[in-house]
Amino acid sequence: MEKMWIGALGLSSLLGIFGSLVAAENATLAHVEIDGNAFFDSKTGERFYIRGVDYQPGGSSNLTDPLADIEICKRDVPKFQDLGLNAVRVYTVDNTQDHTECMQMLAEAGVYVILDVNTPDSSISRSNPGCSYNADYLQTVFATIDVFANYSNVLGFFAGNEVINDETNTNTATYVKAVVRDMKKYMRARNYRQIPVGYSAADVTENVQLAAHYFNCGDDADARVDMFGVNDYSWCGKSSFQVSGYSTKVKAYSNYSVPLFLSEFGCTKVTPRPFTEIGSIYSTQMSSVFSGGLVYEYSNEANNYGLVQIDSDTSVTTLQDYQNLKSEFESTQNPTGDGNYAKNNNVSTCPTYEAGKWEANNTLPAMPSAASAFFSKGAGEPMGTGYPTQFRCGDTNLSDYFTADAASTTQSASLSSSSASEGSSSSSASSSSSATSATSSTQSSSKSKGNAVAAAEVPTLFRAMAHVWNYVL
Ligand SMILES: *[C@@H]1O[C@H](CO)[C@@H](O)[C@H](O)[C@H]1NC(C)=O
Ligand SMILES: *[C@@H]1O[C@H](CO)[C@@H](O)[C@H](O)[C@H]1NC(C)=O
Ligand SMILES: *[C@@H]1O[C@H](CO)[C@@H](O)[C@H](O)[C@H]1NC(C)=O
Ligand SMILES: *[C@@H]1O[C@H](CO)[C@@H](O)[C@H](O)[C@H]1NC(C)=O
Ligand SMILES: *[C@@H]1O[C@H](CO)[C@@H](O)[C@H](O)[C@H]1NC(C)=O
Ligand SMILES: *[C@@H]1O[C@H](CO)[C@@H](O)[C@H](O)[C@H]1NC(C)=O
Ligand SMILES: *[C@@H]1O[C@H](CO)[C@@H](O)[C@H](O)[C@H]1NC(C)=O
Repeated sequence: MEKMWIGALGLSSLLGIFGSLVAAENATLAHVEIDGNAFFDSKTGERFYIRGVDYQPGGSSNLTDPLADIEICKRDVPKFQDLGLNAVRVYTVDNTQDHTECMQMLAEAGVYVILDVNTPDSSISRSNPGCSYNADYLQTVFATIDVFANYSNVLGFFAGNEVINDETNTNTATYVKAVVRDMKKYMRARNYRQIPVGYSAADVTENVQLAAHYFNCGDDADARVDMFGVNDYSWCGKSSFQVSGYSTKVKAYSNYSVPLFLSEFGCTKVTPRPFTEIGSIYSTQMSSVFSGGLVYEYSNEANNYGLVQIDSDTSVTTLQDYQNLKSEFESTQNPTGDGNYAKNNNVSTCPTYEAGKWEANNTLPAMPSAASAFFSKGAGEPMGTGYPTQFRCGDTNLSDYFTADAASTTQSASLSSSSASEGSSSSSASSSSSATSATSSTQSSSKSKGNAVAAAEVPTLFRAMAHVWNYVL
């Protein structure tokens, strides 16, 4: 990809080479790549198991971008090293901010980032998924990709987190899968590294496996996930491989063709948590099917899942869970060799539609037509968090993201014919929020977007509910 990228830039390649010479002193981590159902270090060729934590200090109620504040990174990155981590998952970032220093510090510490591209205000809505899948939404997703695509220590992106969270909203999977497709096509159109794209599924027994197969099925390789995360809280206290149900899951997913990992784990029914599942996750009991996971979560928030208590921007107090996790990681080596991973080219069979059980559509909506402009121009100006897109049906006004000048000077990448889709998939229902003039001023860095934002602004209460419905961290 690197070579292709330089080639594609033609004249700019000299600059690119010069740039990388200048950057030589900066540590870069080798990309993590995928083969079969496993991750590998692209430099050493060794199997890569995620040893991570979920990381969103402040949680969803006090949303802060932990990768944009070097003080916060200086506080936390040494703790990641002390715990022996190689990855963190971040649920929301602010795409208007500069993340270079923190990403660099993480790279130097050997830590990869798995990044959710959504924000509470800009994500697929359970109440009206078709409407929320619109060009303004895709602009925020693509702008976040623009900001992070160049860091070698981005392990992957999540196109969605727990959007399906019970049996009544399985239809939302259709739109999340369309976002997976659009993200992968966007990275190709922009000549970025093809960073893996996945989905992080809620621990819903009735449909988590249906979801896993749905996201990995069908003829369109772009629409299929590159990796799949399951949030799983089944190992409580000093459980076991059998009692926790892990053994059943290893069997159930044994024919799954892409990397699978625990995108959240750490049941709190028994506290302090002994984290004895570490011994199982990083053993041959699991390694043929799972590639590690992320403990929920680094900082202690209202729901009491933390490893550390945050005292201030410069200090944290480690909790007993932290010590327990650290000692479990210390005493648990990865399986030797390739851990019996499987190279299985059989993608999943698409689950069939069944009312009340699995209502996702195996025919995906076309990308909203206005969004194809981003493929040729890039996403334009990032809009930050607190930029509500969920209730905007239909196509966007592109002038909101591009100044005339920027639009004419941005480099145009060659487009494959399939990426410029026709028509809009979004329903033509008028925005339910446009009638209200109530504007809430939530804490955010969103740039003002004139009338477009005002029209989409929704009452605080409604937004708060949207947070609960759609974005449970
Ligand atoms: C990506 O990194 C290369 C080499 O360091 C640099 O030349 C290029 O400008 C970067 N691209 C972006 C979009 O930041
Ligand atoms: C929200 O997070 C910021 C930054 O970490 C912190 O300074 C502030 O005190 C927090 N506010 C609340 C209400 O927790
Ligand atoms: C190298 O890292 C420093 C410190 O994080 C950063 O300021 C600088 O922009 C980086 N250089 C390049 C070329 O990425
Ligand atoms: C792939 O599918 C074929 C046909 O169903 C089957 O025979 C084969 O065992 C499968 N391969 C794997 C690795 O599951
Ligand atoms: C694996 O098995 C499940 C059912 O247990 C099925 O839905 C899925 O399509 C299978 N995948 C492959 C690759 O055969
Ligand atoms: C699936 O999508 C197709 C194309 O948009 C549509 O014709 C069909 O009615 C949808 N099926 C269901 C069950 O919603
Ligand atoms: C798009 O936005 C620009 C600037 O806000 C405005 O001048 C223009 O009339 C808008 N176009 C449409 C079709 O709404």
